[in-house]
Amino acid sequence: MTDPTIPAPVRFFEGDCREFLPIDADVVITDPPYGVDRHGRMLGQIASNYHGKGAHTRGYYDHDSDKFAEILTPAFNGMLHSLPKGGSLIAFCGNRTFAEMVTIATHAGFQMLDVLVFTGGGSFAKSRTMLMPRHELAFFARRPGGTREINPNRNIANLFDIPKTKGESKHPTTKPQTWMRRVVEVFSEPGETILDPFAGSGSTLVAARNLGRPSIGIEHEHPYANIARERLGLPLQPPFAA
Ligand SMILES: C[S@@+](CC[C@H](N)C(=O)[O-])C[C@H]1O[C@@H](n2cnc3c(N)ncnc32)[C@H](O)[C@@H]1O
Repeated sequence: MTDPTIPAPVRFFEGDCREFLPIDADVVITDPPYGVDRHGRMLGQIASNYHGKGAHTRGYYDHDSDKFAEILTPAFNGMLHSLPKGGSLIAFCGNRTFAEMVTIATHAGFQMLDVLVFTGGGSFAKSRTMLMPRHELAFFARRPGGTREINPNRNIANLFDIPKTKGESKHPTTKPQTWMRRVVEVFSEPGETILDPFAGSGSTLVAARNLGRPSIGIEHEHPYANIARERLGLPLQPPFAA
């Protein structure tokens, strides 16, 4: 039984998740980089956009499938071996690289179960060749060899229409706490350990902590790692600003 007055413990590592995984956990909830720019830098970083200005791009026009697989194949493999048999993975992904990410995860050994659709936000069309995004996607998969009940009354839908909270961190792709709380609630029980190997500003870990779930996060960009530490009340590490 978890005591809700005691904050759930958080373990946070700075570095490349491929070097840390596997780490034992009950559930993986993560938001991997959606693509890679032409310099091989991972998304979540600043890259030039289609105007040639410095902006966060979600980098598809210069997307590099080989680099994407180079990062995500060992990462999904490590996530698979972090989970018990039947354990759940929820991974957010970009609309344009969704198919690629699911393919990499299934090749790593995950069994694809469902697509989760998140609405309640929205953005402008990034160019005249694109539609206005009105939803975001995640996929739900399991480690084969077992099953896990997540919907006892069979009334939880795969559409999450939840208004987005905003301005929660300076990370360019911070996920809203409203969404992360719901995902944590649906896919885990209090006391279960949640792993996010692409932690960014720590949104999964903040939601987990606030809902009484121990968590483990990994982030390889030092400024983002410090944003996560700050949100989680962990000591910051030098250098303190980018
Ligand atoms: C889409 S962002 C996650 C944002 C996060 N959901 C949040 O709300 O802040 C992906 C993160 O993965 C990090 N990342 C990319 N490759 C990594 C790796 N190999 N190991 C650890 N972190 C990595 C990026 O620096 C970025 O912060």
